[in-house]
Amino acid sequence: MLPSSVILCTVLLTVTICSSMNIFQRRLAPRSEKAVINEDPLRSLTKSGQVDSSSAGLNQNQAKSTNIKPASSVSSDETSLMAILSRFQSRLAFRTRPVVNTHNFDYKYNVPQACAGKTVELMIAALSRVNSFTRRQTIRETWGQFATGANKTVLLFFLGSTTDKNIQEKVAAEAQKHGDIVQETFIDSYRNLSLKSVALVRWISLYCPDSTFVLKADDDMYINVPRLLSRLRAQFDKGPLFIMGFLLKEIRPIRTEKHKWYLSTKVYPEPTFPNYVCGTAYAMTTTAALRLYVESFYVRPLFLEDVYLTGILADKASVPRISESTFSPIKIKATGCTYKTRISGHRNSPTDMRKIHAELFDPNLKCEK
Ligand SMILES: *[C@@H]1O[C@H](CO)[C@@H](O)[C@H](O)[C@H]1NC(C)=O
Ligand SMILES: *[C@@H]1O[C@H](CO)[C@@H](O)[C@H](O)[C@H]1NC(C)=O
Repeated sequence: MLPSSVILCTVLLTVTICSSMNIFQRRLAPRSEKAVINEDPLRSLTKSGQVDSSSAGLNQNQAKSTNIKPASSVSSDETSLMAILSRFQSRLAFRTRPVVNTHNFDYKYNVPQACAGKTVELMIAALSRVNSFTRRQTIRETWGQFATGANKTVLLFFLGSTTDKNIQEKVAAEAQKHGDIVQETFIDSYRNLSLKSVALVRWISLYCPDSTFVLKADDDMYINVPRLLSRLRAQFDKGPLFIMGFLLKEIRPIRTEKHKWYLSTKVYPEPTFPNYVCGTAYAMTTTAALRLYVESFYVRPLFLEDVYLTGILADKASVPRISESTFSPIKIKATGCTYKTRISGHRNSPTDMRKIHAELFDPNLKCEK
């Protein structure tokens, strides 16, 4: 069984094939010390002239010789990014692998100060399609209400871009009004969802690295935030590095050509995916998110968002995946009682969301055992 959130991206597939050719050429070339250093993400993400080359044992010319374009949007945040990456500098594998995915999209809208000067326990990232205005507003008025300073919780919506001017104008007004929109320049499409997940781990790494937990949720999910938080805190007591969600074990890629989730053995040679959690909603510690972000530089995006982030990247970055089946990956009955014992449920209409929310937090709610 594959969850409905598992999706493919044919365009990324093309990109993947192209960059794997580059890697192939690099592998054939003798791997000099300089070549290795030039593949360092520190260099790919910073303005060459500003790199502290002394610490890397480089002179300015060598630092400038990199041809990976820096992400201009990141320039003002170089210091925080370099601090994150430097934590991984001592790992040999970090320095000897080629960078294949810089994810250097600019921000159209960003909220860089969302966590500034606050203690943040939970960063809620709702991954939302650019034109899902109603769904975002419903989240703001229901479970998103928990995102208050007193609750140490921040809510942001992650969007891609559109060429539709009317929609973009509405997004601009929404970003202005609510200040909770993070929009990157890649085209927002169902098949580009992996880019949005990388956008999320990038954002938390750059702007909220001191938070404790991150939640990723689709915009049609209802999330029982108090239940989520108590489950996360209990797990955190056992250790600060994990991803939690509805665990999928030993899932095999679909090898039937023309199937919408088809994966060729060239793109994905292994017979099974690493264990991963269903993408409709999952949570992780920020420590885990930082690792996944760093790891994303070295692994070409697969069009299956949850497989890529919580399976492949998590596996390579040695992030444990914790099974929590109350992250329901499916549609469950839209009542307060159903959600009382669950963390999440899928495919809720705005009406469902309001009904669940009103019932769940009704002090007179009575549920059969
Ligand atoms: C958290 O948010 C909810 C919903 O707005 C509110 O009822 C509750 O009092 C808040 N808790 C704290 C500790 O502020
Ligand atoms: C994904 O985003 C990239 C970058 O904006 C774009 O070129 C591509 O067309 C998008 N893919 C799809 C399937 O929309």
